[in-house]
Formats: sequence, C-alpha cells, structure tokens
Amino acid sequence: MSLQNFFNSLDELVSEARATLSSVDSGDSLEALRVKFVGAKNGALKSVQKLLGAVDVPDKPAAGKRFNEVRDAIQALLDEATARIGGGAVAKSESLPDATLPGLRPRLGQLHPITQTIEHLKEIMGRLGFTATEGPEIEDTWHNFVALNIPEDHPARDPLDNFYLATAKAANSSPLDRDAMLLRSQTSTVQIRVMESQPLPLRIISLGRVYRPDAPDATHFPMFHQMEGLWVDRNVTMAQLKSVLRLFATSYLGGDVNVRFRPSFFPFTEPSVEVDYWWNGQWIEFGGAGMVDPNVFQHLNIDSEKWSGFAFGLGVERLCMRRYGITDIRDLYRSDVRFLRQFAQ
Ligand code: FA5
Repeated sequence: MSLQNFFNSLDELVSEARATLSSVDSGDSLEALRVKFVGAKNGALKSVQKLLGAVDVPDKPAAGKRFNEVRDAIQALLDEATARIGGGAVAKSESLPDATLPGLRPRLGQLHPITQTIEHLKEIMGRLGFTATEGPEIEDTWHNFVALNIPEDHPARDPLDNFYLATAKAANSSPLDRDAMLLRSQTSTVQIRVMESQPLPLRIISLGRVYRPDAPDATHFPMFHQMEGLWVDRNVTMAQLKSVLRLFATSYLGGDVNVRFRPSFFPFTEPSVEVDYWWNGQWIEFGGAGMVDPNVFQHLNIDSEKWSGFAFGLGVERLCMRRYGITDIRDLYRSDVRFLRQFAQ
C-alpha cells in the first residue's frame, strides 16, 4: 500500500470523526461513536492500524508517526465532546451504582475522648467562675516540690517515683537540687506559677498531662491528666470547696452525686482530704483537695492572715472513665480506632 493511500484513509477517518463528534448531543450517541472510532475490537482506528502492515517498509516511520497524530486527534475530539455534554452522561453507560441508595458518609476525624473531656470540664468550671490556665510539663524541683512544701526527704521526691530529666544541668546535680528538672508529677505546680505571677484574688483551673513511673493497670497509666483547681480570696472555706466539687460533679456525672471528704495528707494543704464521689451505688475516689497550707503562701510572700484558699486535683481519666463506663484506662491510649470511634461527637 502506498504511503499516500494510507494518509488518505487517515484523513477520511479524522474528518468523519470531526464531523460526527462536533455535533453529538447525548451520552449514548457519544458512547456509540467512541466504540465506532476507538473501540478496542472493531474500532475504525484499529482497522486503519492494520493497514500499517501493508505500507512499504521505507515509508513505515512516516506512516506510524501520522497514525499516532490521528489517534491523538480523535482522542482529543472525544474528550472535547465528553466535556461538552457532561462527563455524567458517559458515566451513565458505565456501571454507576443505584443513585437512589443513601450516600456513604465520609469519615471525619474527631477529638480524642480525653480532649473532649478536658473541653467539657473547662466549660463546667468556667460556669463556676474558674479561668483555665496552663503550666509547663517540664518543671523544676522548686515548682514541683519546694514551693509546695514538699521537703527534701519526702518520699514523693524519690528518683524512683519521678521522671527526672538527664539535662546538662542535671548531669552535675542530684534530684534534690533546685536545678534538677523533671516531667511534672502533678498539676499542683500550676498553683505556684499562678500565685507567683497573678494578683489576688484568683480562681483558676489547670488541666494537663502529668507523669509518674506507675506500672500500667486498669486504673493507672504513667502519663495521665489532672484538673487542678485553686481559689484564693479573703475568707475562702472548706464549705465552699465542698460546694464547688459537688456542683462540678453534678454537672459532669449528672443526677444525684454526693461528695465525701476523707481526712488525708498533702504537704501543700492543711487540712487535706481525699475526694470521693458517691455514684451508681458506690464511693469512688477522684482526687485530693484541701486548704492551701500557710507554708505555701509564705514561699510566695502571700500574707496568710489576710488570704485563704482551697485547692483540689482530680484525675481526668478517672472522671472520663466513670462517665462513659470505660473499665480500663489503657483503652484510652491504645490508639485503637474501633474504641475511639465510639466517641464521635
Ligand atoms: C495529687 O496529685 C495532688 N496534687 C492532688 C491535690 C491537689 C491535693 C491540690 C490537694 C490539693 P494524687 O497523687 O492522689 O494527688 O492524685 C490525684 C488523682 O490523680 C488520683 O486520685 C487519681 O484520680 C489520679 N491518678 C493518680 N495516679 C494516677 C495514674 N497513674 N493514672 C491515672 N490516674 C492517676
């Protein structure tokens, strides 16, 4: 076959494609033309391609080049027609699922249950007049112990009970030095930071992570969250502490929650109590509380004759677990999406 004849066949094909595809106006007709021109089995382009075999050998490169140009031109005409009458019309002839079926809801991300709990607790305490504030997770021993009236020989400062950091400063010092740094073991550090920097009276909460080398079990984790509360004013009393904790518990746990104070000891409060909530037929311990110890005020140059205050620290995971009936704290930190998805907002 001469090169000219081959070119003629290609020209005819492309003119026909141009004429028909420029006026096609429905998805079905377009699909029929697509099969006619570029159908894999009996498409016109396929037939012309077969003629390539009959072209003289020296003319083959030119014939092949022209064939490719025509194939691209026809494809461009098809694309143009598809865009003109809307892709949906062509898709219709492909396997589209039943359009009357309900749609698939795209999965959105969500906040971790503890983050949701923190927001919720902030909102409840905000209504009681407490402003949320934050403090650093890496602390010095002054804020974590000394200012909180925890003496050097107190077991709470034991290196085995804390995550001391191997900082350059710490390399030459012992955990008892003021310079030693650690991951804070309680949010009570924020009491000190706030009283150092803010004028009295004050009423704050602070929610954040704390760290202790506790072996993980159903109710303990080495990293957990606490909600610290501090109210310093003239004439703040234990009765107010109890009312605040009861109001808080009623809002968060709902219904008839009772609060019980059991005598306890914390170096930074006097008197000190453990806080239990009566809920669903049993007493459950949620944290510690008490009246700010005058020694703490003294460290901060606050006149304890003039000012009094209460403080409390509650375990956030334990609150969240109670509310949602979670029986193992480790479930919160396994990153198992099947568990976490139950807390979709
Ligand atoms: C304290 O941490 C005191 N700072 C609380 C406080 C604040 C007392 C202000 C007085 C005034 P305690 O070590 O008991 O107290 O911890 C408080 C709560 O944190 C516990 O009741 C418990 O709910 C929670 N908690 C303690 N250890 C863990 C742990 N390993 N995993 C999960 N929650 C824990």
